[in-house]
Amino acid sequence: MSDIRLEGVSKRYGTVAAADNVDLNVTQGEFVTILGPSGSGKTTLLSLIAGLNKPTAGKIFIGGRDVTDAPAQQRNIGLVFQSYALFPHMTVLENVMFPLGVRKITGEAARTQSLEALKLVRLEGLHDRRPSQLSGGQQQRVALARAVVFKPDILLLDEPLGALDRKLREELQVELKQLQRTLGVTTLLVTHDQEEALSLSDRIMVLNHGQTQQVAAPTEAYLKPANRFVAEFLGIANFIGIDGGRTGLVRPERVKLSPAGMNGGTPAKVVEAIYLGQMVRYHLELDGGAAPMVAAVPFVGRAFTAGEKVSVSWDATDLWPVA
Ligand SMILES: Nc1ncnc2c1ncn2[C@@H]1O[C@H](COP(=O)(O)OP(=O)(O)O)[C@@H](O)[C@H]1O
Ligand SMILES: [Mg+2]
Repeated sequence: MSDIRLEGVSKRYGTVAAADNVDLNVTQGEFVTILGPSGSGKTTLLSLIAGLNKPTAGKIFIGGRDVTDAPAQQRNIGLVFQSYALFPHMTVLENVMFPLGVRKITGEAARTQSLEALKLVRLEGLHDRRPSQLSGGQQQRVALARAVVFKPDILLLDEPLGALDRKLREELQVELKQLQRTLGVTTLLVTHDQEEALSLSDRIMVLNHGQTQQVAAPTEAYLKPANRFVAEFLGIANFIGIDGGRTGLVRPERVKLSPAGMNGGTPAKVVEAIYLGQMVRYHLELDGGAAPMVAAVPFVGRAFTAGEKVSVSWDATDLWPVA
């Protein structure tokens, strides 16, 4: 059964279509990420689902129920934003207990349930602190605990890790994924970070100008993008002219490099070799004036160096025609 369903959802602000005829089906327990550049309509879509905003057209269903006209408080949704939005005058525990109070759960039951939620986000022992006494990562964990403490049907996360530095963000990504799996809660995450989207989600929805570009599993969207926009937004795209004036795409990880003259590939010169830990990224100039290419090759002892002649090839099955 579909847990979140959008049918032809649009939201206009004057002449801007922030959401433009969007359809989406998210199944029970699924983790779907809405990915798109700034201004593509991600927050708009989330706020429509949360009931903080009304669509200009279309219908929104949650758990099979038409909630298009239902107020936010009738939707049982947990929300987390980039700004932690914690109550500064309340302790961590009081912050987490707050949505329970709104739902008339008080006293020992509320306390127990809140301490459990804090344990889930690894904040046990910090419940008497104020938000200002916590790091950014800890504050965002409190926000997560507060969003799940009342066992929401749906969790909506709008760039929740956007304010954190890279290492902390990667740590919290893993924790977020574990939390989501533990709770089995249907989750929609908004991000503009393609790596985050590809690594966390069951499926991603790519948005541009309020319009859906593709909804697919991460590997499918990455290797079989629906169009040029998706191809370029999800990573480095090597576009290659193929027969009939069409364009094909090979991802850098699928490009094969051999020493010059071997394997009958296209002769090329290494313009730049960049070490990325386990991988080396090569910027290549192909003989015959074709567009430059990028290859990402696992580092195994020896790498090619700038100026070196190489032979470039790829499997026909790794060439994806793009519209
Ligand atoms: N309240 C509003 N009034 C007018 N325009 C808005 C409003 N909210 C969003 N928009 C416009 O809608 C588009 C999508 O915005 P938003 O959903 O915030 O994008 P994203 O979250 O992907 O950055 C943008 O062009 C933005 O300027
Ligand atoms: Mg936004």
